[in-house]
Amino acid sequence: MAMHQEDFVERLLQVMEGKSHWAWPLFTSGQVSRELLHVHFEQEYETYVRDFPVLVARAYVQCPIAEVRRELAENIYEEETGGLIAGRPHPELFLEYPRGLNMDVSRFERVELLPAARRYRAVLDQATQGSGWEIAAAVSTLFIEGTPYERGEIDQTAPRRPAPPLEQHPLVVHYGLPVEHLALTKAHRQVEGEHRAAAWRILVKHVGEPVRPRVVEAMQSALEAWLAYRDDVAAACGLTRPRTRSSPPRASGVWSNSSLRPGK
Ligand SMILES: [Fe+2]
Repeated sequence: MAMHQEDFVERLLQVMEGKSHWAWPLFTSGQVSRELLHVHFEQEYETYVRDFPVLVARAYVQCPIAEVRRELAENIYEEETGGLIAGRPHPELFLEYPRGLNMDVSRFERVELLPAARRYRAVLDQATQGSGWEIAAAVSTLFIEGTPYERGEIDQTAPRRPAPPLEQHPLVVHYGLPVEHLALTKAHRQVEGEHRAAAWRILVKHVGEPVRPRVVEAMQSALEAWLAYRDDVAAACGLTRPRTRSSPPRASGVWSNSSLRPGK
């Protein structure tokens, strides 16, 4: 059955709106003890932060469409070098968070993934290798890099990705991170709009109808694996799931788009 463009976009948006985890409000309100917070950063780094430029590059090498490759190349260049905006590679800037929190940064060279983190990474590898450029591009530039606020990127009437002042970042407020160590958050504020727009241009304009159902399926698999991964991280950070949902489950709070966040 044909999946029309509108259905395709709607299905993708719904997957992204599910990228919200119960533990997130606990992370962003300082409920994780200072001694365990490193687990979160290490697992994030090892599952996708360090290799994010490579994941996008896997879409690039498989893609026969020059226009799409140009969009991807720009993303890869910025992520890998910071040459357009950030000034430094994004994975390197990510390490400024643990560095600013006086964590042992050498630990990031030998991270052992939690079981569901390993599975999440395997799903990302499968999606970006040998599944075709469309799935690789969707999972890297939309699922990993995107937020639960994707609707706001393409629909003027939908809620926008919030961008509160950096001084109010949970790492600053609850863990005393000096604001200058939020370099990656700052860089993302500057490039994010363009990366989000590029991801949607690619998916809307260039993913052919026959491939769309498989792309949606791959996005759903990524979401399921991500939720299980975040369950593992939450448990390792000493969190247990609250019995009742006291707050709206939709988005994961205003900091869903920082790097103490479930998005790139
Ligand atoms: Fe980035």
